[in-house]
Amino acid sequence: MTTEPILQVSGLVKHYPLTRGVLFRKQVGAVKAVDGVDFTLGRGETLGIVGESGCGKSTVAKLLCHLERPTAGSIRFKGEDITNLSGRALKAVRRNIQMVFQDPYTSLNPRMTVGDIVGEPYEIHPETAPKGDRRRRVRDLLDVVGLDPDYVNRYPHQFSGGQRQRIGIARGLALRPEVIVADEPVSALDVSVQSQVINLLARLQTEFGLSYVFIAHDLSIVRHISDRVGVMYLGRIVETGRDAEIYDHPTHPYTQALLSAVPVPDPAAREHRDRIILSGDVPSPTAIPSGCRFRTRCWKAQERCAREVPALAVPAVFRDTAGPAAHDSACHFAETLPSAHGTPGRAAPREGANGNGPG
Ligand SMILES: Nc1ncnc2c1ncn2[C@@H]1O[C@H](COP(=O)(O)OP(=O)(O)OP(=O)(O)O)[C@@H](O)[C@H]1O
Ligand code: SF4
Ligand SMILES: [Mg+2]
Repeated sequence: MTTEPILQVSGLVKHYPLTRGVLFRKQVGAVKAVDGVDFTLGRGETLGIVGESGCGKSTVAKLLCHLERPTAGSIRFKGEDITNLSGRALKAVRRNIQMVFQDPYTSLNPRMTVGDIVGEPYEIHPETAPKGDRRRRVRDLLDVVGLDPDYVNRYPHQFSGGQRQRIGIARGLALRPEVIVADEPVSALDVSVQSQVINLLARLQTEFGLSYVFIAHDLSIVRHISDRVGVMYLGRIVETGRDAEIYDHPTHPYTQALLSAVPVPDPAAREHRDRIILSGDVPSPTAIPSGCRFRTRCWKAQERCAREVPALAVPAVFRDTAGPAAHDSACHFAETLPSAHGTPGRAAPREGANGNGPG
């Protein structure tokens, strides 16, 4: 990170109680949706957060936007601890951290006009715009996201998926936030429309000096917009670094497996690429494996992995190298692999050669 931090997240935890019984509800466990997440977002920067379904990405997004309260940990905004704010102080911070949602088909109220949807934040925060000025602001917002301002009286069903996501983005911008948390903003869109929306977000970032947390389940989607990437697995970030560090020099087996599934446009590079197929399913967040949480699917797992939780830090083998492999990776046996995305190192298991079953 090269700029001053705008968001600092430390030890963030969200456990949902798991209860049993109809009359006497008894807590029998917890869904560990987010289980110790740390990251810093610099001003004007984009942090991509990537991971499979259920790894806790949306829960992180909701915690950042104060739509959920954390079980533990802290969130700082411009140096101020905002974790447990309430009342007016919370409202003021909420204005500054806005969310753009995944599904433009369900996140917009079908009975409201586009003008009312985009202008709704002004009803919730009336101090931000005088009543007489709101209509003009809404029209400006539509213009800024590439929609005809004359569409204010139309309804969401009259728009395509990409246009609806533009409406969602316009709404997210209404209060002039400093941070936007975009939870899979293009996942529900056609591939052809995805890049248009990503380009729009990139342009708005420059225009409004925004900082983004950009969530996706696919590493290829965040590549072109992220300055840094955090890879999540079962409620934690397991590897994080600058764009080139993660894509070209991943050292965590999980990131390596995810990257091996990313399409490579260059046919020559594709020839040299081994696809890593992970065995087993993601364990339930109610029963996280001991030690390294990835060990039940990791082809490199050893006895130490069941015993010791690997810290998210620069692995000792790379600490003195100052090279691109010297970034945070929560693995006891971190190393680089030869891949279409990276430099030669150790051979990856070929497709189907992953003998480490779930356990
Ligand atoms: N309110 C809740 N109560 C109980 N469990 C929950 C709740 N919200 C989320 N979870 C669980 O927490 C885990 C993480 O969910 P989350 O929605 O954050 O994952 P995600 O990474 O966003 O997944 P996806 O890619 O499918 O959107 C999942 O196992 C989910 O079932
Ligand atoms: S710590 Fe062990 S199980 Fe975890 S990723 Fe590294 S090698 Fe695999
Ligand atoms: Mg989600």
